[in-house]
Amino acid sequence: MQRIAVLTSGGDAPGMNAAIRATVRTAIDWGWEAFGVKNGFAGLIAGSIVPLGKRDVGGIIQRGGTMLGSARCREFCAEEVQRQALDRLEERGIDALVVIGGNGSQTGAHALSRRGLPVVGVASTIDNDLSGTEVTIGVTSAVDVALEAIDRLKVTGESHHRAFLVEVMGRKCGYLALMAGLAGGADAIVIPEQETDPERVADNLRAAYANGKAHAIVVVAEGARNNAEGMAEYFREHHQRLGFELRVTKLGHVQRGVAPGAFDRLLGTRLGAAAVEQLAGGVHGVLVGQIGGRVGATPLDEVVGRTKPLDLDLLELAQVLAR
Ligand code: F6P
Repeated sequence: MQRIAVLTSGGDAPGMNAAIRATVRTAIDWGWEAFGVKNGFAGLIAGSIVPLGKRDVGGIIQRGGTMLGSARCREFCAEEVQRQALDRLEERGIDALVVIGGNGSQTGAHALSRRGLPVVGVASTIDNDLSGTEVTIGVTSAVDVALEAIDRLKVTGESHHRAFLVEVMGRKCGYLALMAGLAGGADAIVIPEQETDPERVADNLRAAYANGKAHAIVVVAEGARNNAEGMAEYFREHHQRLGFELRVTKLGHVQRGVAPGAFDRLLGTRLGAAAVEQLAGGVHGVLVGQIGGRVGATPLDEVVGRTKPLDLDLLELAQVLAR
C-alpha cells in the first residue's frame, strides 16, 4: 500500500472523527499517503478526494459528526456506479479504502471489495445493528443523549404527574432503546425484536401510578410496530385510563449530533488504527470491530445482510426491575 483513502458514510455517529484521525495518522506513520473522500460514496463517485496530512485531522477528536461529510447513496447499488467509483480511485492512484459506517456503508464496502479493491470497514453507527462487532462507534454517546433526555423528562414528569413515551432512533434495531431504557429505569421498553401488546404497556403505567410513582417513562424504539405516536394513539382510541397524563417526546437526530464521550473516542481511535494495520498486514475485505472486548476483524462476507441478535435477557431484567 502507498496511497489510502478514508470515507464516512450513512448516518453520522459520534466518534467517526476519532476514527478518521487514527486512520490518517496511522497510515502516515506507515509512510503512506492519506486521502479523505468527501460525503461518502456520493463523493467517491464524484471524485471529491482531498489529500489529508497529520495536521488536517487535528482538533477533531472531540467533535461529533464527521469532518469528511456523509451521505446516503442509494445509486451505489448499481454495478456501473461502483465501477465509476473504482475509476475515480484509480485516477488518483489510490490503492486501498477505509469505509467508516454502518450496515448500508459496509454493503458498499463489500461490493468494492468483491470488485478487487482492498477495502477495510470500520464499524460505526448509532444503531449498533452491525454484525462483526459487539459495539459500534457512536452508540454509547447516543445512549447517553437518550439518558440525559429521560432524566430531564422524569423531573418535569414528576412535577406534573405525567408519563412520557420517549422515542429513540435505531432503525429496525432495539439496542438503543433497550440500553437507554435499562439505564434510565424505564417502566416499559418497546423494541422491534419483541412484539409488545400496548395493553401490557398500559398495565405497567397503571401499576406505576398505583404504586405511588409521580412519573413514568416508556422508551419506544422508532422501529417497533407501534412507535411512540402509534402507542399514544392506541391509548387515546381505547380510552385507556392510565392515571398519568401522557406526553410523547421523539428524540430523533438529537441523538446523533453529540460530542463523542470517552468510550467512542477510544473505540474510534482503536478501530481506525486497526483498519490500517489490517491493510499493512495484507488483510482486506474485512470489518474491524470489537470482539470479546478486543479489536478483531470479520470478513465482510459474514457481516453484510446479517442481523445481530439482541440480548433479550436484558429486556426481561428491565421488566423485573420496573415492577
Ligand atoms: O442509521 C442511523 C440512523 O440515525 C437511524 O437510527 C435512523 O433511523 C436513521 O439513521 C435516520 O436517517 P436519516 O439521517 O437519513 O434521516
